[in-house]
Amino acid sequence: MNDALSHLKRNSTPAKALSEPAPSEAELESILAIALSAPDHGRLYPYRFISIRGDARYRLSEVFVQATRLREPDVDATYLAKQREKPLRSPLIVVVVAKLTESEKIPEIEQMLAAGAAAHNVLLASNALGFGSVWLTGANAYDDHVRAGLDIAADERIIGFIYIGTPELNIPPRPLPAPDEFLSTWE
Ligand SMILES: Cc1cc2nc3c(=O)[nH]c(=O)nc-3n(C[C@H](O)[C@H](O)[C@H](O)COP(=O)(O)O)c2cc1C
Repeated sequence: MNDALSHLKRNSTPAKALSEPAPSEAELESILAIALSAPDHGRLYPYRFISIRGDARYRLSEVFVQATRLREPDVDATYLAKQREKPLRSPLIVVVVAKLTESEKIPEIEQMLAAGAAAHNVLLASNALGFGSVWLTGANAYDDHVRAGLDIAADERIIGFIYIGTPELNIPPRPLPAPDEFLSTWE
């Protein structure tokens, strides 16, 4: 595969175990510059990012735990421990928040696609810099207690927690289906 394409061929497998170093502030800025280059009908930039690193991850842990207790009062200790561990799985978390605006010209679906494309660019740029990254959501992304904890406004939505760090293990990527299974030619 040619060099340019190999930079674009991402996968989340190395992100199964991520440790320090995380992208520096300058590297994060470069990553977000690539995110901002995502296609965006009307240049609405219908998203923003929240960076969480260091001790703030422990505060997010507590928010996840409290949110889980509120959702499921009888939750078992093992599940709760998993929630507590989530924000600690990487040294940096970038929360991608979609912020859609009412527009006659640009439907909400296009704005959400633009936000998703920006999120994907965060993955691609992180990987291109040699970091591992994975895009996760789960119940916490849609939880009101988590939204309040992260100061997410009523017109905003969390579309992903992107976990970024240095892969600890050299795990082979999962095999991908053949591209021609997804292609037909209309003529
Ligand atoms: C919007 C979105 C949300 C996702 N949320 C989760 C999630 O909560 N849990 C999960 O295991 N994978 C989730 N994924 C999928 C992973 O990011 C990843 O793509 C998947 O595990 C396949 O691995 P790969 O990216 O290495 O091919 C999500 C993907 C997207 C686009």
